[in-house]
Amino acid sequence: MCGIVGFVGRQGDALPFLFDGLKRLEYRGYDSAGIALAGQGGTVSVAKAQGKLAVLEGRLGTLPRAVPLGIGHTRWATHGRPTDVNAHPHTDCHGQIATVHNGIIENFQELRAELVAQGHRFVSETDSEVIPHLLEAYGGDRDLLGAVREAERRLRGAYAFLAIAASQPDRIVAVRRSSPLVIGLGDGVNYVASDVGAFLPQTRRALVLENGDVALVTPETVEIQTSEGTAVHRAPFTVDWDMRQAERGGYPHFMLKEIMEQPQVWSDCLLGRVRGDHIEAGELGLPWVQRKDVRRLQIVAAGTAYHAGLIGKALIERLARIPVDVAVASEFRYQHPVLEPGTLVVAISQSGETADTLASVSLARHLGAPTYAIVNAVGSTLARESDYVVYTHAGPEIAVASTKAYTTQILVLTMLALELAAERGRPRADLVRALWSLPALGEQVIASLASIVEMARRLAGERDVFYIGRGLDYALAMEGQLKIKEIAYIHAEAYPAGELKHGTLALIEEGTPVVAVVTDRAMAEKTLSNILEVKARGAEVWAVVDGALPHDWPVDHLIRLDLPDPLLSPVLTAIPLQLLAYWTAVHRGQDVDQPRNLAKSVTVE
Ligand code: G6P
Repeated sequence: MCGIVGFVGRQGDALPFLFDGLKRLEYRGYDSAGIALAGQGGTVSVAKAQGKLAVLEGRLGTLPRAVPLGIGHTRWATHGRPTDVNAHPHTDCHGQIATVHNGIIENFQELRAELVAQGHRFVSETDSEVIPHLLEAYGGDRDLLGAVREAERRLRGAYAFLAIAASQPDRIVAVRRSSPLVIGLGDGVNYVASDVGAFLPQTRRALVLENGDVALVTPETVEIQTSEGTAVHRAPFTVDWDMRQAERGGYPHFMLKEIMEQPQVWSDCLLGRVRGDHIEAGELGLPWVQRKDVRRLQIVAAGTAYHAGLIGKALIERLARIPVDVAVASEFRYQHPVLEPGTLVVAISQSGETADTLASVSLARHLGAPTYAIVNAVGSTLARESDYVVYTHAGPEIAVASTKAYTTQILVLTMLALELAAERGRPRADLVRALWSLPALGEQVIASLASIVEMARRLAGERDVFYIGRGLDYALAMEGQLKIKEIAYIHAEAYPAGELKHGTLALIEEGTPVVAVVTDRAMAEKTLSNILEVKARGAEVWAVVDGALPHDWPVDHLIRLDLPDPLLSPVLTAIPLQLLAYWTAVHRGQDVDQPRNLAKSVTVE
């Protein structure tokens, strides 16, 4: 998703910060990038390029140096293809004003037609380009802040943007309406960015803009107003996490690092929440949930977080016997959901910024349902807009394909299921005690998987693959197939193993790859029969199985895991599925951390 950076200093050189800041936002996913600088008078200077930041770097020589005001952007295309021209920053007709924008301007067609009729010349296909022209129309080259306020009354949508003008070299005007924006507070210089990671090497003091805020940022001051013009104070805070945590630590890709550090982050996630054979209900907000008299859960999430929700449903229903529905957020928000009294809406999200998940929570609140968020990014919009938030503590996740955030989401849902079960008179002290064995078991699983590199080499030559499983294993299969699609670009589909014979079996022929997941002991024999069905038709089978199962596995590639109770196994079983996708992508030479067309944080619907 688009990344925004800005620098306004008394003196100095904005350019090195802007370029490094964009690099630190690379993890969000992007397809083009650009930078604009505004010196005293003259026009703004812009460099932009389709592709990776290295291409932009090659064009920075055209920009002036020692200019202390600038903005930068990484774009993830929504309106108009990823091209040099569509890349941000965009400027007005006379090159006096430049803007960078994240999100969508919904009424851009109407505004564009109006501005064209007034004589404005547009060069791009983007919705974003209406902003600098609107600012020009409202006299932004004389009073940028006043023009932004006027423009704000006309723009509709969910977005954030920064504006600079060559005539006012001491200011950035920043607007937040849905998409996140944070201001970094320096000494004689201030920074603006989509997230704090962009300016952490410069400063740890920051403040978060709220929806509707318009900020006038100068080298010395930050003045914030609501869109109605009322001055507001947003309290600065100190960022306490370290950017080094987000560096690759010697691994070739962030994704591999993040897979490998799962046992450690599981400890972070369990810490303070599980003691001996009981779970600290207060740490999960359960006294609050109790007061709401919850009788049903509605989980909403997107992508991998949705798959964690499917595991959560199985665990909560089996352990606590509370009915749970799981919905993809982009569907939920438009389905006129029926939320009966006693329904708790649980939103799951790594970034806490996914537009559809946020909209689902806002709809739920509008319908009067209590909202509970399971989030990784501290201080994110979802965390702030839900009634209760539990953090997953996975640390910054940089690779676009989610791994450690997913397994910590499952852990939080497992703790929730166990504590809800205990409160309903169905305690499982054995499982609670066993939670703390997971980090060590995770290390063992990782150590046992060296053979997966070669198993993946075989899969790397394929075009299609099926994933099968039953129950929890089906939910895991769904995540396994998403991983391989995302990073290896292999067409993959997950099926409940028992459903294959109702259609999909027709596609199995000599050599068709099938990945089977078999960790649910109660259903292992049934899935074994389904493996035999596909083998009989010539399939090549990769199987991830519970090593304690007594069966012979008639498969081509076998991964045996040392697993505890099946209800605690999903986080462990996820690891070989993640690694299979990872090594397959590596063998295929793909850009593992930043797969094509995908973004880490999807802040548009
Ligand atoms: C994007 C990411 C996925 C992620 C999904 C939901 O599609 O590429 O990895 O699972 O968004 O993101 P969230 O931040 O809400 O968990």
